[in-house]
Amino acid sequence: MDIAERKTVRTIAVASGKGGVGKTNITANIAIGLSRMNKKVLVLDADLGLSNIDVILNLATKYNIQHLFKGEKKLKDLIVEGPEGIQVLPASSGIQELTELDEFQRLRLIEEFESFDEGLDYLLIDTSSGISSNVGFFCMAAQEIIIVTSAEPTAMTDAYALIKVLFTKYQEKNFKVLVNSVKNAKEGTEVFRRLSTAAERFLSISLDYIGFIPLDSLVPKSVSQQRAFMDVYPESEASKSIIKITDRISNIENNNVKGTLQFFLGGLLNTKC
Ligand SMILES: Nc1ncnc2c1ncn2[C@@H]1O[C@H](COP(=O)(O)OP(=O)(O)OP(=O)(O)O)[C@@H](O)[C@H]1O
Ligand SMILES: [Mg+2]
Repeated sequence: MDIAERKTVRTIAVASGKGGVGKTNITANIAIGLSRMNKKVLVLDADLGLSNIDVILNLATKYNIQHLFKGEKKLKDLIVEGPEGIQVLPASSGIQELTELDEFQRLRLIEEFESFDEGLDYLLIDTSSGISSNVGFFCMAAQEIIIVTSAEPTAMTDAYALIKVLFTKYQEKNFKVLVNSVKNAKEGTEVFRRLSTAAERFLSISLDYIGFIPLDSLVPKSVSQQRAFMDVYPESEASKSIIKITDRISNIENNNVKGTLQFFLGGLLNTKC
């Protein structure tokens, strides 16, 4: 397909400073929410060394990103069908060399995405926690970044640290914040207020609030069932929050974002971490 004919793909990276705050669950469930709006969604598991979206969704993966880097498979061969029509590009688990992608591997990813023209509406990127070069790379390659934090002081401090690194190292100024595992809406807003006050005061950037997800026992329950909570507990509080967040995401004007899939490709190419 000609590049000019390609439809606009929104690429959204989901990141956090601290690990275990809910990125993978949130990404998978937002993907389902968008899919229910008849959007074609691909989730890229970018937690390359310690992937687990395939475990959370109980996907039978035959190949992973390592096969792509070895030149044994093409991007489309790796993609597996997830629940409710979402597509997943699995990473690999326990391969340490993938925790820091080298130039060759980045170029390989670019080439593969360049020739991938499956008419996607959204590419969601589930990143690893922390501030590694891979995280910087995927966040800068995406058009939009969702920072996930919980109300825990360590999670908030680490979220701020990630924002600071992406701002100081890559001049990134646009961040959406999602507060997970909170008691209620008030706690979500309060966490956002504290984070955004710090970002405004010390970095002079304003953050956008994209919403909260309550602490919900049906989330870990769905994880142990290896099903997405949107799928298995559609009436749960967590699912209701995901629907609100998905609505907000889909209502954001495309002209508010950095570019298109071409930007994703260009971003991948130009980001030196
Ligand atoms: N809203 C919630 N309510 C209750 N438990 C939650 C909620 N969100 C996430 N969890 C639990 O937190 C754990 C970690 O979630 P998840 O694996 O999605 O985090 P992560 O940020 O992707 O972790 P990692 O940094 O290791 O990739 C899971 O066991 C999940 O059940
Ligand atoms: Mg994860």
